[in-house]
Amino acid sequence: MQLLIDTDTQKLTVTDGAASRTLPLYSIEAFALLSRQWLKVGWDQKYPHQFSWFGRPVIQIPEDLIRLQEVIYAVQPDVIIEAGVAHGGSLIFYASLCKAMERGRVIGIDIEIRPHNRRAIESHALFALITLLEADSAAPSTVEQVRSLLKPNEKVLIILDSNHSRDHVLAELEAYNQFVTSGSYLIVADGITYDLYDVPRGSPQWQWDNPINAVKTFLESHSEFVAETPRKPFTESALTTDISYFPSGWLRRK
Ligand SMILES: C[S@@+](CC[C@H](N)C(=O)[O-])C[C@H]1O[C@@H](n2cnc3c(N)ncnc32)[C@H](O)[C@@H]1O
Repeated sequence: MQLLIDTDTQKLTVTDGAASRTLPLYSIEAFALLSRQWLKVGWDQKYPHQFSWFGRPVIQIPEDLIRLQEVIYAVQPDVIIEAGVAHGGSLIFYASLCKAMERGRVIGIDIEIRPHNRRAIESHALFALITLLEADSAAPSTVEQVRSLLKPNEKVLIILDSNHSRDHVLAELEAYNQFVTSGSYLIVADGITYDLYDVPRGSPQWQWDNPINAVKTFLESHSEFVAETPRKPFTESALTTDISYFPSGWLRRK
């Protein structure tokens, strides 16, 4: 595909094989096409790998963090569970929201919590709100450990951001959906990989081996969940495209 930006005529020409069309550059459709390409270039340039929250690196783009905040504030969960800790910035992000809301705590699961990351997370001022589990998120023993940490009637929200292969995400969806409470979300990160198969740091197998395929399979047998991008609490824009690494990643339990 070719995207030709002409700032003089204020047009965007999109050529895909023999088909070509020209759009107003300052249009909603042009915004969607340019944003998609921006996300792809950003992936290759490690754009998400340059932010931190309260001192800890968080591997997310700011727009996804803002959307997570909007949903967490709307749901007011008692427990936020995340598979995929890395440097701990996302756990600290959720914990800071819990602290500000005076509600909720965080459980983080990672197959490998490197000693320097563990030290930094455990010595953080917000660690009192965090429980770390070092284990394979899809292992039945891990799921049982998580279950033992939950109290009856707690409102639970879950983010899956560990291994992004289709099979692993599907295993996580099947294992953890039981904990998500009505009205809350099971959030699948990095579905964007389906569109990153052709970027230099991508892989051809991501065309099928991606979190969105796991979500599709999961939804076939889980009608208690609906794929639904959360309503924006505030917008004065006509834009409909989110700039997100989580496309199709928001599953709300009815
Ligand atoms: C994308 S990073 C997580 C980023 C983090 N959520 C953030 O926002 O900063 C993915 C993490 O998943 C972990 N991981 C990979 N496979 C896993 C598995 N089977 N179970 C649990 N964690 C896993 C990796 O060790 C890595 O730290």
